[in-house]
Amino acid sequence: MDNPSSQNCAPDESRGSWGSSVGFILAAAGSAVGLGNIWGFPMQVGKGGGAIFVLLYLVCVFVICFPILIAELAIGRAAARDPIGAFQCLKPRTPWWVVGALGVVAGVGILSFYSVIAGWTLAYVWYAATGAAGTDPGAFFGGFVADGSKNVWLSFAVLVITAGIIIGGVKEGIEKASKVMMPALFLILILLGLRALTLPGAVQGLAYYLKPDFSKAANIAVLNAALGQAFFSLSLGMGAMMTYGSYLSKKTMVIKSAAWVAGLDTMVALLAGFLIFPAGFSLAGFNPAEGGPGLIFAVLPGLFATMPGGALFGAAFFVLLTIAALTSAISLLEVPTAVLVDRGFCRRKSVMTLTLFVTILAVPSALSQGASPALSKLPLFGMDFLTLMATVWNNWALPIGGLLIAVFAGWVWGADNVVAELKAEGNPFPFARAWSFLIKYVCPAAILFIILMTARGMFAG
Ligand code: PFF
Repeated sequence: MDNPSSQNCAPDESRGSWGSSVGFILAAAGSAVGLGNIWGFPMQVGKGGGAIFVLLYLVCVFVICFPILIAELAIGRAAARDPIGAFQCLKPRTPWWVVGALGVVAGVGILSFYSVIAGWTLAYVWYAATGAAGTDPGAFFGGFVADGSKNVWLSFAVLVITAGIIIGGVKEGIEKASKVMMPALFLILILLGLRALTLPGAVQGLAYYLKPDFSKAANIAVLNAALGQAFFSLSLGMGAMMTYGSYLSKKTMVIKSAAWVAGLDTMVALLAGFLIFPAGFSLAGFNPAEGGPGLIFAVLPGLFATMPGGALFGAAFFVLLTIAALTSAISLLEVPTAVLVDRGFCRRKSVMTLTLFVTILAVPSALSQGASPALSKLPLFGMDFLTLMATVWNNWALPIGGLLIAVFAGWVWGADNVVAELKAEGNPFPFARAWSFLIKYVCPAAILFIILMTARGMFAG
């Protein structure tokens, strides 16, 4: 039976749909697994003091973010519309569509700095294969990121590849690419992980990564970072999962797919830590807390330069990172694309226009790592433009978006309607009551608490 409150959302076959559940899971996992897992997660673990961050992160993923992932997929599927249209059709003539619009803005904002880092990974495939970083990879990285025009071109290249894939459409573009890229990603990750565990610093690295220092637990900034990281990693709070959900058929078992996506994403983040900390600690003078955006670029090539077969392992590592970045960039660009396509614009033209637009927005981030002194240390914020972008979107915009989505799903559209939507065609929704409780009370309260405490800490400090 159709969900009564989604009846005004007539399905429009021409907007595209997934070919199979596996295809959807790989595409959604492709969105989730990205730079956030392999570049961001270890960096945050380093800044947040090691294993305690890992613990807080896992709690955020399973208690706060997983219920919101289910909500986003349900909203998207019920409406079969882009994020703005989804709110409009589930709650017509209310201002809730603004949540969708904020998500689209966040997606474009994230892509503007994401494409810059993805450009680094692309260049480093070549640098690692040729051993270009030499014996002082820190200095090499510093010189590389300070080359403004190179960085702008690299982010443009990433956006063009991304655009080339999504112009092909949902099934023939995104799904096909994900089916090739994701298995390749898992294979490379496992091979590299096995290699890293046999490095000399492995034990020290693992202790840092796995033994929590509970004195750091009370730090609200670490909790805020863990929450932001969890939202970012699962591609939540901005309508990406809503958009992917909008291409789902009523037959798909959403809960099972969501569990796969969250499970794979968490597994890859944890595996990335197993890869990077043993590797880092095998180098003299490694301090994970000082890494910043350059952690893996400035540190790991030094290791690859000295180990047997390093050029091969190094290139494989950056291929892994590039694949992860591309499948996520695809979902970031698909959100504004869906908005235009659902308003009658042709997919091809929409994608091309957006690509140019995002390239321009990426310029300040590309110049913020040394090319422009002003952007490399913003006077008011004490950080570079790229780091500011990552903080604003991840730590603030996504959790706030997630909070509003939880309130919408739990109270406005209503938890019962979400459950009915997900039980369509007789599909199971185990623990539906626990989910309703989490989405109505726990998610909003926990996110609000973390956001308010962080704001208080910032103004007090
Ligand atoms: N989840 C991606 C990552 O971990 O790298 C980043 C991301 C993709 C965030 C898509 C948000 C999004 F909508």
